[in-house]
Amino acid sequence: MSESQTLEEIIKITYSHNKWRRTETLNLIPSENVMSPLAESLYLTDMMSRYAEGKPYKRYYQGTKFVDEIEVLANKLISQVSNAKYSDLKATSGTIANAAVFRTLANCGDKAVIAPVQAGAHVSHTRFGTLGALGIKQIDMSYDQEIYNIDVDNAVKLIEKEAPKFVVLGGSLYLFPHPVKEIAEAAHSVNAQLVYDAAHVYGLITGGVWENPLSQGADVMTASTHKTFPGPQGGVIVSNEEEVFKPISKNVFPWFVSNHHLHRLPATAVTALEMIKFGHEYASQIVKNAKSLAESLVSRGFKVIGEELGYTSSHQVAINVKELGGGAYVAKELEEANIITNKNLLPQDTPDKVENPSGIRLGVQEMTRYGMKEDDMDRIASFMESLLIRKESKDKIKHEVIEFRSQFLEVKYTFNIDLGKYSSFKIPMLI
Ligand SMILES: Cc1ncc(COP(=O)(O)O)c(C=O)c1O
Repeated sequence: MSESQTLEEIIKITYSHNKWRRTETLNLIPSENVMSPLAESLYLTDMMSRYAEGKPYKRYYQGTKFVDEIEVLANKLISQVSNAKYSDLKATSGTIANAAVFRTLANCGDKAVIAPVQAGAHVSHTRFGTLGALGIKQIDMSYDQEIYNIDVDNAVKLIEKEAPKFVVLGGSLYLFPHPVKEIAEAAHSVNAQLVYDAAHVYGLITGGVWENPLSQGADVMTASTHKTFPGPQGGVIVSNEEEVFKPISKNVFPWFVSNHHLHRLPATAVTALEMIKFGHEYASQIVKNAKSLAESLVSRGFKVIGEELGYTSSHQVAINVKELGGGAYVAKELEEANIITNKNLLPQDTPDKVENPSGIRLGVQEMTRYGMKEDDMDRIASFMESLLIRKESKDKIKHEVIEFRSQFLEVKYTFNIDLGKYSSFKIPMLI
């Protein structure tokens, strides 16, 4: 391939991705979202090329006077929307935020008690991920299958017996809230800190439809800023306790980041402001849509997890698709019809099933951001039924999906603002 053909190819691939994922697919991956056009405009700026190691106004570089201002403002808005006194946005992802918190609270060889994988623990909470890399010992709470949650009585006894440095709650397959209050009391009785990983539910917390763990006894909360909270990819650490927060914030740089990807800051600030203004409406619709999708799927013959508890309290829905060919097969079939999901272990799966687990996990936060409501969830369920149960033509369904998606191309729950006078600074999106 010549140089110009290669160039053409790079642009074409990128453009094709944008067109496909932005205009033709139903994205139901629970860990993703889209920023508003306003936040995107403020993301693609010169800040993406700059360094600002250190804290605002105490940098190791010159040229950061506006970065200092925006970092202070972004943290202020994040504190406000999180109902927290302190915020740090330097972690460039939720995993990095966890690493900084875990390493500050414990040394190599210390113990951490975590929610079991069946209750949603993320790999970063485990010996296979960040916790293991830091040499911190993982001790699992037990799981109660009846309530799809932590077995509280046993967890309290375990924490009292093990006296770990910290306890972790919050999860990835996360349908129902973990019992924060009871676990916080047990942790504090042995001088352990409670870390709440809100990566998935941060938008629901900031939207006020999922209890804020900081008001229930969690000492520090970490999150991703790009899942139910619809900002740029990044991490955040918030807390109300100065003595817990200060050492963590001091360690993010230089322990886990050098530069913190500065173009995230204005985009995160705008997203925080969007959530302050529209977050409750957005998050309420997310939860209504998730429940509605679950009910529609059940009425169309799918086995949805959590019937006894109303299927979900979050943005997620989990389906047992073992009899339909397993999670790997079903996720691939759906992708070929332009419905993007991911396979997922269900609570009853053993870890060796990771390549083809019994489940798929759906999240409605992105389609809700594009304005979908309860009736639209039934349409999504109907596509899934046609494909996976009625075995209708994949091509036909794909075309119906594209047509359906074309009605939802505008991001809602954002400000209508004309950036005209700043347009010479804007780097256009390739779409
Ligand atoms: C509970 C939980 N914590 C942390 C993470 C990691 O977040 P990030 O991708 O921002 O590193 C995830 C990712 O999905 C998650 O589900």
